[in-house]
Amino acid sequence: MKLILLGAPGAGKGTQAEIICEKLNIPTISTGAILRQAMKDGTEMGLKAKSFIEAGALVPDEVIIGIVKERLAADDCKNGFILDGVPRTIPQAEAIDAMGIEIDMALDIEVPDEMIIERVSGRRVCSCGASYHVKFKPSAVEGVCDKCGQPLTIRKDDEPQTVLDRLTTYHEQTEPLKDFYRAKGLLVEVEGTGTVAETTEKVLKALGV
Ligand code: AP5
Ligand code: MG
Repeated sequence: MKLILLGAPGAGKGTQAEIICEKLNIPTISTGAILRQAMKDGTEMGLKAKSFIEAGALVPDEVIIGIVKERLAADDCKNGFILDGVPRTIPQAEAIDAMGIEIDMALDIEVPDEMIIERVSGRRVCSCGASYHVKFKPSAVEGVCDKCGQPLTIRKDDEPQTVLDRLTTYHEQTEPLKDFYRAKGLLVEVEGTGTVAETTEKVLKALGV
C-alpha cells in the first residue's frame, strides 16, 4: 500500500498514520517530523526550514523533494509506505510521479477550519514522536509521555496566529491536490470530525482493512 494522507493542519493525519502503519506494518514518512528533527539537530536543512515553518509557510519544494527521494529509497519502504504531509504542492506531487512511484490512494481527512484551532491548541508532543491532546487524547500522567516518560511540549507552530497562517497556506497551496488526485481516480475523502476512534473506523473502511 502506497498511501498519501491529505488534510488540513491538525486534521488528524499523524494520529491516523500512527494507527494505520502499525496495522499494515509499513513506515510513515512525515516530512514535518523529519524537518522538526533536523531543526532540533541544528543541521543545514533544519536551519533552512526553520523560518518557513515558524511563519506557517511551506518549505521550498526542492528541499522536500530531496527528503522524499532519499527516504523512499530506503529498504523499509519496499512493501509500501504512508506519506503524511507530503505532497503539499502540485510540483511535489508531480515529482513523486516522476520518481516512478505508483500511489494506490490519496486519503483526504476532512475537518472544517473551525475545529482545527481547538485540535491544534490542545496538542502536546514528545521528542520521541508521540503526540497527544489535553482533552481528546490525554497522556496517562499530565505533561508526561506515556511511551518514554519525557516531558511533553507545545509545537512552536501551534501558536494561534501561526495556525491561521498554516490554514491559509493549506487552502491556497495544498487543497488543489484534491483535484489532482481526483482526476487520477485516487482520491478518497473521509470525514474527520468525529472522535479519533470514529475516524480510524472510517479510514480503515476506506482502505479495505
Ligand atoms: P506537519 O508536521 O506536516 O504539520 P501539518 O500538516 O500542519 O499537520 P499537523 O501535524 O499539524 O496535523 P495532523 O493532521 O498530523 O494532526 P494530528 O494527528 O497531530 O508540517 C509542519 C510544517 O512543516 C508545515 O507547516 C511546513 O512548514 C513544513 N512542511 C512539512 N511538510 C512539508 C511539505 N511537504 N512541503 C512543504 N513544507 C512542509 O492531530 C492534531 C491534534 O488533534 C492532536 O493533538 C491530536 O491528538 C488531536 N486529534 C487528532 N484526531 C482527533 C479527533 N478525531 N478528535 C479529536 N482530536 C483529535
Ligand atoms: Mg502531523
